Amino acid sequence: MCGIVAYIGTEKALPILIKGLRRLEYRGYDSAGVAILNKGSLERTRAVGRIDALASALAEKDMAGTMGIAHTRWATHGGVAEENAHPHVDCSGDIAIVHNGIIENYRELKQQLSAGHTFKSQTDTEVLAHLIEANYQGNLREAVQKALQNVRGTYGLVVMHKKEPDRIIAARLGSPLVVGVGEGEYYVASDASPMLAYTQQVIFLDDGELAEITRDDLKIVNLKDEKIIKQTEHIDWNEAEAEKQGFPHFMLKEIFDQPTVIKDAMRGRLIAPDGTAHLGGLSMTSEQMASVKRIILIACGTASYACLAGKYAFERLAGIPTEVAVASEFRYSDPIIDRQTLVFGVSQSGETADTIAALREAKRKGAYVRGIVNVVGSTIARETDGGTYIHAGPELAVASTKAYTNMVTVLLMYALQFGRSRRLTVATGERLVKALLEIPEKMQLVLKQSDVIKQLAEKYKAYSDFLYLGRGINFPVALEGSHKLKEISYIHSEAYPAGEMKHGVNALLSPEFPVVAILTSNALYDKMRSNIEEIRARRAPLIIVATEGDAAARELSDDVVSVPPTMELLEPLINTIPLQLFAYHVATILGRDVDRPRNLAKSVTVE
Ligand code: F6R
Repeated sequence: MCGIVAYIGTEKALPILIKGLRRLEYRGYDSAGVAILNKGSLERTRAVGRIDALASALAEKDMAGTMGIAHTRWATHGGVAEENAHPHVDCSGDIAIVHNGIIENYRELKQQLSAGHTFKSQTDTEVLAHLIEANYQGNLREAVQKALQNVRGTYGLVVMHKKEPDRIIAARLGSPLVVGVGEGEYYVASDASPMLAYTQQVIFLDDGELAEITRDDLKIVNLKDEKIIKQTEHIDWNEAEAEKQGFPHFMLKEIFDQPTVIKDAMRGRLIAPDGTAHLGGLSMTSEQMASVKRIILIACGTASYACLAGKYAFERLAGIPTEVAVASEFRYSDPIIDRQTLVFGVSQSGETADTIAALREAKRKGAYVRGIVNVVGSTIARETDGGTYIHAGPELAVASTKAYTNMVTVLLMYALQFGRSRRLTVATGERLVKALLEIPEKMQLVLKQSDVIKQLAEKYKAYSDFLYLGRGINFPVALEGSHKLKEISYIHSEAYPAGEMKHGVNALLSPEFPVVAILTSNALYDKMRSNIEEIRARRAPLIIVATEGDAAARELSDDVVSVPPTMELLEPLINTIPLQLFAYHVATILGRDVDRPRNLAKSVTVE
């Protein structure tokens, strides 16, 4: 994530940039900075914290410059510190850049540049500033084009050069950038919200495009300098709608973010030819990896359901006995742990008090302790001896969605890495890598059914109790679907492994108790289908999540949501999405405060 704003025109740039950053704060908020071309010098100010901290740092400065770039950061490479905040500059301090995305080969590039360049941060972005410097021969556009030809990864970036006071260069590959077209002025930002107060005429840059922007002209080319003709579009969103990219709530935006951010979780971590994954943050030698006899996944809430899906992967792929521990129980359970136990703390915020305490307990008892977190520099990230960021970007809705799917993805990749270092064949590894790479497209197919799911929500909104059922890998999916529904709609719901029904829960079945059953084509299909027949016989209303083309599922119920097939271990990545959408639509139809449900907080920092 991260937010970018840039301005070139005739007005003072600073107030426009600061106001724009405030609109983009939802994209990241650990540090911020601006660079403005002011009276012939390139002046840069950065501050740790939210935009207010940057605004205070700038309060006394006289900045009349009419061209500048600005950034609000969500750390991915390098901790939260002023030196890692954007804009970054080259050795001369003449080139300034703001960047959103991940440069995968930044270590190689840094190595290549190390002879003549001095680096002052731990970021991947600073490498770009030096790479542009190395390619600069009097024309900034050409230097950026040449530099980007050597880059692997994703970027949305804006660059300026002190010696070219009449232009800024913007480029996009995988991270959004919008250009706002004014009278004798242009704006660039990560979304349209910062520019809507000034113009509604915008051009959306596409991947591979680079814009050279002067005060009165805009030229769009690709990296080979071939000209691209783009249409200017009129947008009539208000500023708040633009922040949410037109979605009415952050939760829905975050559900729809999933195909994009799952790619960020996988980027640079899958090694297709070897059928494996490499998560460098594990920080364990092969001997240490081989010594692991047991894995414990510690988490709370949604993160714990992601861990349940991860347990299946560790056991099936790597043959390592794996337990999932709810942090609040684990911390007081006097857990039996030894030096052959690997403990992962899994948390979106990295600040959940119970998870932190449980990890400290595991560390005290000598386990290897690693983190799987979203928020860079959070307590869990700092206190563990290694781990992996899930790269879901800021998740603002209280109900976790995209962090869940990215947690499952990272756990799957760890299981693959351990599996390949043990008994898993390259052929199985290759199949899994291929299936993972197909997930973003399959997620899109599910998201396309949002309106159909909304109709189901309309039909079922008045029930006061729901039951979610799954078996095997789909039991954690049922747990997560049920959790989402109760969190944001306040409707009572429960989740059970379907095979347990006969042992008590069947007594609850009635026409007043709808059941959401996950029946996808996997090894337990026939067992699950028999359970569904039993429910039907008791006349409970049924919604079935089934693999597309499953005619039997249609016979069992009028209400079927189809999902594309995938490998069994990957099913939570697909099958959870219709349940997220169902909960969302029920809650909005009931008029709930979807992004901020009552009695809940995004980050539970107290016990
Ligand atoms: C559910 C939800 C909570 C969190 C839980 C753990 O939608 O958001 O159940 O999953 O509080 O939070 P993190 O992942 O920040 O440790």
